[in-house]
Amino acid sequence: VEMPEEGWEVDKGPYPHFMLKEIHEQPESLARLLREVIDIESGALKDIVPTVDFRGADRIVMVACGTAHYATHVAKYWIERFARIPVEIEIASEFRYRPRVHGKHEIAIFVSQSGETADTLAALKDVQGHVTKTLAVVNVPTSTMARDADAVLTIEAGPEIGVASTKAFTGQMLALLALALKAGCDRGVVAPEMLSALVDDLVTLPRLVSETLALSGDIDQIARNLVQSEHVLFLGRGIQYPIACEAALKFKEITYVHADGYAAGELKHGPIALVDDAMPVVVFDGADALTEKTASNAAEVVARGARMVRIGASVEVCVAGVRTPASSEVVEPFVNAVVLQLLAYQAALAKGTNVDQPRNLAKSVTVE
Ligand code: G6P
Repeated sequence: VEMPEEGWEVDKGPYPHFMLKEIHEQPESLARLLREVIDIESGALKDIVPTVDFRGADRIVMVACGTAHYATHVAKYWIERFARIPVEIEIASEFRYRPRVHGKHEIAIFVSQSGETADTLAALKDVQGHVTKTLAVVNVPTSTMARDADAVLTIEAGPEIGVASTKAFTGQMLALLALALKAGCDRGVVAPEMLSALVDDLVTLPRLVSETLALSGDIDQIARNLVQSEHVLFLGRGIQYPIACEAALKFKEITYVHADGYAAGELKHGPIALVDDAMPVVVFDGADALTEKTASNAAEVVARGARMVRIGASVEVCVAGVRTPASSEVVEPFVNAVVLQLLAYQAALAKGTNVDQPRNLAKSVTVE
């Protein structure tokens, strides 16, 4: 286990693993970040990145690795929706090595828990001078990325020791959501009434995350079943698609079960060929306009004999799955993130793997 940052006191407390402790810290870490980005009393957004001007931006590019990449993928939906700025997302190790056409007024955002990941750091250095502004979204405020970027937003998650990222993921999503709303307000896309409704939703976040943590018993049953299989397929549509990808990543990282995250609509273009009664399929159902389409994709896998697990607020009690607390559209990805983290954690426990230090993985990859 990597040494914690200086000044950061870390022990497992009553938890058997750092990962479980960090999953359980999320109501608190998210509440802390909420207080950093929103004036809870007045409901106003704080001026979180005063030197970044979104008004004239014609493009945002977000660069990251691993779990942080999936946080940017979730945020792409929010930035395009709330700020109406076209967003490009890319894995740092790909971004660095292609000839890129920069926007005229482009903001480049680098997302990293450690702020030290070699490829993300190099990508940041490469774009300096070619984009209008570089912004680092990091957990470690003293990191190289925080120092090198023009502006910094810290996610306030506190030390994350488990190699598989958990509370940093939800912190990254929340920080990027706050940026999307800030940009939307500055650009006149998000009207004051809309902002106040969204802030009302966001204030419920810590409570809904706590309620989700209490579903651990239901999740445990499902995790024990999933880990019997050699492969698991995770599906989602829209904002649930990157959530499905993060679920598959967590599963691979700590259970060593082969898992794939797919856009539900893409199922019939390949992965459905794999589906039989030995392939469990986990579907993240969003409470959004896409829910019926996801349900029809789910029906396709059931028709092929797959064991299906559904995760969502409208999941019927009789169906194998996890009925999550009803939440709003912006809160739902956080709720589902907690479910996927517990699912992978409990599956790893059932399998007996080294949860905090999975084989071959490092907390922060500082070499190429
Ligand atoms: C490693 C870790 C992952 C993390 C990724 C990016 O692969 O095991 O959990 O998501 O690096 O790390 P960063 O510090 O840049 O977010």
